[in-house]
Amino acid sequence: MDSAAYAKWLIDTRRFWDADSEFQAKYRRICSSPEFDATTDEGELVGLWDRATEASLRMILRAIPISSEWTCVEIGCGIGRLLKPVAARCRQAIGVDLSQKMVAWSRDYLRGSPNAEVRLNDGHSLTGIDDASVDFVYSHLAFQHITLHEVVEAYLGEIARVLKPGGYCRIQNWRDASKPVAESLKDVVRPLLGRDRYRSSRCWVWEEGKEVRFGGVVYHPRTWRSLLRRHGLRCTSTELGAGHDYWMWTTSRRGDR
Ligand SMILES: C[S@@+](CC[C@H](N)C(=O)[O-])C[C@H]1O[C@@H](n2cnc3c(N)ncnc32)[C@H](O)[C@@H]1O
Repeated sequence: MDSAAYAKWLIDTRRFWDADSEFQAKYRRICSSPEFDATTDEGELVGLWDRATEASLRMILRAIPISSEWTCVEIGCGIGRLLKPVAARCRQAIGVDLSQKMVAWSRDYLRGSPNAEVRLNDGHSLTGIDDASVDFVYSHLAFQHITLHEVVEAYLGEIARVLKPGGYCRIQNWRDASKPVAESLKDVVRPLLGRDRYRSSRCWVWEEGKEVRFGGVVYHPRTWRSLLRRHGLRCTSTELGAGHDYWMWTTSRRGDR
């Protein structure tokens, strides 16, 4: 990896995720959507947050036989929104995140979850986690923002390193695939109606009138699966458009190497 390009990427990425307040972090970065933007009522926001978290958890654990014996790792865990319910289902839950502020807020959020721990990382590695020690690695709403292919590759190598043989990996990222006409039409109509903030798979409007290009590398499902394979991760399922038109979820398992 070109170290100068990487250093700049890390500074820019951290600046973006180090939100000004916990409110901004939770409701403008982690769970950003028109529904969240439409209210500042704390009760409503908490309700939306809980419902979004339940939906995300269902996707993460789809066909994953999580057990109370497992060690689970989340890449890009934010304040621990998903780590908390995962920790309630396993022995140890470790989250890594490159944002100092997210990590700091996670201490509060995860106070009642003694088996959950969040570590500040360098944005591309799982340093400190032993080889072949993890049963399940997952990531939601993080890979879709990683703008350097080298970082994605580095993580895949790290996932293969820390997973036990047969261990599970479930990742959500953005897909690059031809879509049925109805879906493409929705892409055009939704932003016009103000129902969707995504203008394209690479562009996200964070604030009114302010467009921030912060979409990550987009992979065609075939390319993504071969990338996983190259890192010793055998893809067992791919779900396109599940949860969001642009999303691609894959489950893979570490083979014996
Ligand atoms: C949209 S939030 C999602 C947080 C959490 N996964 C959830 O769904 O609640 C994305 C998080 O990923 C983190 N992140 C983004 N790129 C990362 C990277 N390369 N390595 C580690 N964390 C990253 C950000 O700091 C942020 O906390």
